[in-house]
Amino acid sequence: MSQNSPNTNVQVLLLEGVSQEAVRIFEKEYGKQNIEYITYALQEDELIKKLQEKKVTILGIRSKTKVTRKVLESASNLVTVGCFCIGTNQVDLNAAKEMGVTVFNAPFSNTRSVAELVIGATISLFRGLGEKNIKMHNGEWCKSAKNSYEVRGKNIGLVGYGNIGIQAGVLASGLGMNVYYYDPIDKLRIGNAISCKSLKDLLSVADVISLHVPDIPQTRNLINKEAIAQMKDGAFLINYARGSIVDIDALDEALTSGKICGAALDVFPEEPASNKEEFVSKMTAHENVLLTPHIGGSTTEAQTDIGISVAKKLVSFAEVGTTDGAVNMPELNVPKKSEHTRINHIHNNVPGVMRKINKIFADNNINIAGQFLQTSGSVGYCVLDVCLDGSAVEVSQIFKELKEIEGTIKVREL
Ligand code: NAI
Repeated sequence: MSQNSPNTNVQVLLLEGVSQEAVRIFEKEYGKQNIEYITYALQEDELIKKLQEKKVTILGIRSKTKVTRKVLESASNLVTVGCFCIGTNQVDLNAAKEMGVTVFNAPFSNTRSVAELVIGATISLFRGLGEKNIKMHNGEWCKSAKNSYEVRGKNIGLVGYGNIGIQAGVLASGLGMNVYYYDPIDKLRIGNAISCKSLKDLLSVADVISLHVPDIPQTRNLINKEAIAQMKDGAFLINYARGSIVDIDALDEALTSGKICGAALDVFPEEPASNKEEFVSKMTAHENVLLTPHIGGSTTEAQTDIGISVAKKLVSFAEVGTTDGAVNMPELNVPKKSEHTRINHIHNNVPGVMRKINKIFADNNINIAGQFLQTSGSVGYCVLDVCLDGSAVEVSQIFKELKEIEGTIKVREL
């Protein structure tokens, strides 16, 4: 990518104080003068103005900047948006796809952070640290081994065996725990992890249950009264996934009755929108519930990793055309650029487009040295290496003809 001098055709706008690691990557690639760094989110109108004024090609945001259809329609130079976070709800992904704007995020950057905290919570629950900590703060010295256990040899049940579930399982196994998991998708078992045929099977065997499923209709209130009844008496529950997954009233009842001996919760059905708002929950009444403010994935390491991972994806996309990890484009891994001219053609996935692209080059006696194509749903994503040196026809004429192909969404030279 980075040659001797920075590529000054690219204009980068970074909002919401994305990490300095990301800034350094862009500065190296494009030079300081082509990067604007703003520490806060811009409102729609300000964002539109900025994107147009600066002819921004790469936009970096976190979760607060809303990249709406209106924003995307107004930003004709924009080729990619990097979400320096996990979620991408703040971007109108369909509109971006229709306009050939490729969106990236960092889905795995905080996986390890969550998994580590699950282990911290597991040990804390088995040792009753929640109550002990509150008592100490109140001046109570309560030295006792009662209801205090090692985690070694205990059963941890992971509901959802995806990125976080697997990592948590590996760490738990290192502590000598027996790892059980339930996932409707057939997953490769890591180490000695045991797959359960049903959620019921898992709930009935686990001493501590940890939830690692997405927030989808099938997982809403997955842990309800009926599921709790299937748990071992005195089990622990950890929810570091999403608040909607646990029926909080049912949990409240189970904690009061002692059916569930303790819980660790990082996510809630209703969470304060900012640090200025009060946290209100029935769970504050239970001393044996460890409460954290949705910080499962919030570590310095995760933030650094997000910065590096998203910045690299954006540069690789802008310079080489690689869409690996894109959330709204067909994923295509292309080799490094050679001495040829590289062109990216994004189009509607309909018959005949590739034939028309190839015809333009053939008619102009231009050799295609390499062609890479991936389609997904409504979009076709193509990267071409062509030999324009010595060609009689103007490059601008070739681009004009490529743009005129029916179904073309975006064409750019890399
Ligand atoms: P993932 O997509 O890698 O794994 C989710 C797994 O859940 C998949 O294997 C899927 O097949 C499985 N699954 C789906 N429906 C299921 C069901 N009904 N029963 C059992 N398994 C089911 O997701 P990842 O990265 O492991 O994240 C898991 C959760 O953690 C998500 O809800 C995510 O939002 C949350 N999370 C929370 C953070 C925090 O700060 N507390 C930070 C990062 C993620």
